[in-house]
Amino acid sequence: MKKWFAVIGDPIAQSMSPTMHEAWLQQKEVDASYIPIHVPRGTVEEAVRSLKTLGCSGWNVTVPHKEAIIPYLDEIDPLAEAMQAVNTVVVKEGRLHGYNTDGVGFVASLRETFPEVEADAEILIVGAGGAAKGISYALCRDGFRNMTIANRTYETAEQLSSQLNASAMTLSEAEQQLAQFDIIVQTTSVGMAHSQEGSPLDVSQLKRGTIVADIIYNPLQTELMKQAEALGGKTMNGIGMFVHQGAIAFQHWLDIQPDTEQMTARIRQQLGGNSC
Ligand code: ATR
Repeated sequence: MKKWFAVIGDPIAQSMSPTMHEAWLQQKEVDASYIPIHVPRGTVEEAVRSLKTLGCSGWNVTVPHKEAIIPYLDEIDPLAEAMQAVNTVVVKEGRLHGYNTDGVGFVASLRETFPEVEADAEILIVGAGGAAKGISYALCRDGFRNMTIANRTYETAEQLSSQLNASAMTLSEAEQQLAQFDIIVQTTSVGMAHSQEGSPLDVSQLKRGTIVADIIYNPLQTELMKQAEALGGKTMNGIGMFVHQGAIAFQHWLDIQPDTEQMTARIRQQLGGNSC
């Protein structure tokens, strides 16, 4: 029987996952399809039941269901359990296994773009929400030891940092002490198209050569990235993270490694950038 995969979320129409996974399925000559499904908030239990009944082989989970889906799964990967967020479900012999590939996707993208980064790099994470949690857990699991979490609400930064043996700061403390960091990871929605404008962090104290990674990919270059580049920072947007989280999900489902480099260029082009 032909396999099928899906992505569930609300909203879902803007998701680029179907285009990406369909292209990979074709490239790898897998007889399967991947469809977006609009699942309104509060209806994830029915959605999971339907996906199972209809023989879905696996699906991605996006906002707002990443945490809500957990009670309906049979097994949960320890990293996803620690994050309390699942973005990938694999159906194996009728049982539902949950994973989180977002943070791991970020680390893969960081390592691909900047292979020189070392485990003792001083990392500043800006934000302490779901995205920050996934990324900081994945960085920690990957061996990065020196992390500081800075957030508008200091208490949330403190909570997350205490789970990871990291430090916490206010945003203004981070701005004043910016020169001590080698890598800055921006995880909030500030700077995203159709969201809050501007930058969550003043980077005027940035040290030349600092890596500034923003998880936003629309626009391709955020205000924060522009300011960082003008001060000699090396920047990366969120396309690579998006592509790698998808590639890791694809491997969980099919045990096939899809191409990430060409896909990153293709998505950049679709979003209006050049292809190199
Ligand atoms: P996600 O799951 O996508 O990470 P979230 O859990 O709502 O989304 O987290 C959003 C993050 O962006 C939080 O760290 C939030 O800070 P607060 O904890 O203080 O709310 C941060 N954030 C949102 N708007 C912000 C702004 N204007 N300036 C600075 N940080 C902001």
